[in-house]
Amino acid sequence: MSAISHNPASPTIILGIESSCDETAVALVRADRTILAQRIASQEAEHAPYGGVVPEIAARAHAERLAPMLEGVMGDAGLALGDVDAIAATAGPGLIGGVMVGLVSAKALAMASGKPLIAVNHLEGHALSPRLADADLAFPYLLLLVSGGHCQILRVEGVGSYRRLATTIDDALGEAFDKTAKILGLGYPGGPAVERLALEGDPKAVPLPRPLKGSAEPHFSFAGLKSAVLRAVESGAHQPADIAASFQQAAIDCLIDRLEKALRDHGALPALVVAGGVAANKAVRGALEALASRHAMRFCAPPMALCTDNAAMIAWAGLERMAAQGAEFAGDPLDLRARPRWPLDDSAEAVRGAGVKA
Ligand code: KG4
Ligand code: ZN
Repeated sequence: MSAISHNPASPTIILGIESSCDETAVALVRADRTILAQRIASQEAEHAPYGGVVPEIAARAHAERLAPMLEGVMGDAGLALGDVDAIAATAGPGLIGGVMVGLVSAKALAMASGKPLIAVNHLEGHALSPRLADADLAFPYLLLLVSGGHCQILRVEGVGSYRRLATTIDDALGEAFDKTAKILGLGYPGGPAVERLALEGDPKAVPLPRPLKGSAEPHFSFAGLKSAVLRAVESGAHQPADIAASFQQAAIDCLIDRLEKALRDHGALPALVVAGGVAANKAVRGALEALASRHAMRFCAPPMALCTDNAAMIAWAGLERMAAQGAEFAGDPLDLRARPRWPLDDSAEAVRGAGVKA
């Protein structure tokens, strides 16, 4: 563990690395919320033939791309490693091979430069990303975290303080979008393709279930919806666009119902925030914005590029931790291990199937 060795007159700069799924990403972010440089390499082409992310292929692609991307980002910003105050990398949860590639690289950079390492929880990156885009977003806020691996409602109390109010008992919402796309033959990644096709369809055309809607338990479930989509396609009775639109509407109805319950059970908060890949969906955003306005809450959604996996959110989570810990900040030990599973709220009880990716 090394002390922070930066010039107090200049704002802190953190190098962030993300490699937990199928995006290799590197970013340099400054404490004044400026993204000095960032590069993202998607592995869509590598995984497309398999209709989903193949962990072994992902790890190999991260390993091949990371070093040139690190060099590229430093060059884009015109900075050297000596100008950076700390190195932050995703340390989990995610596909372990990919996480290890990013974390080991960050450790090597930290060791070579004598700068502190910050091991970031990928979910914390998503959870705090709205504050990178919006300087006025204060704690606490109600967060809907919807990605390919997770579907959770969290009360974000502050940096490092997250209370999970709900999670999925089976599939994540992004996973349901991806599987629906696969069933409809739209390819991978599925979310944006389903959203595009849904624009041409009637959301009321196909009767689909709203699993757990109105349930006394707080959680989400999407497995039954996915099976119903499969049956609707196999029946041959519906247009693909109508199925896509009806699926998206059913998913949105579930989100709104569960958020309404969280607000009833736990009380309103000043802001409703959405993060994670599915937050890029305009219909989802629109429904959440309307919900927030009904409850006189501020609605906050980060720009699209900050919703899906990126390294700026990892660097930002590192900056938040540094700022929150102040003089106590020392970075993480270099023997810290990558974690395939790493809940944001350790105290939340385990829920069957929740948070499983790929
Ligand atoms: O946060 P993210 O980039 O990676 C994870 O940490 O999982 O989220 C990826 C997920 C994928 O399931 C993808 O299909 C979904 O987010 N997604 C969308 C949209 N864009 C990405 N889902 C619905 N509509 C979209 N426009
Ligand atoms: Zn993510």
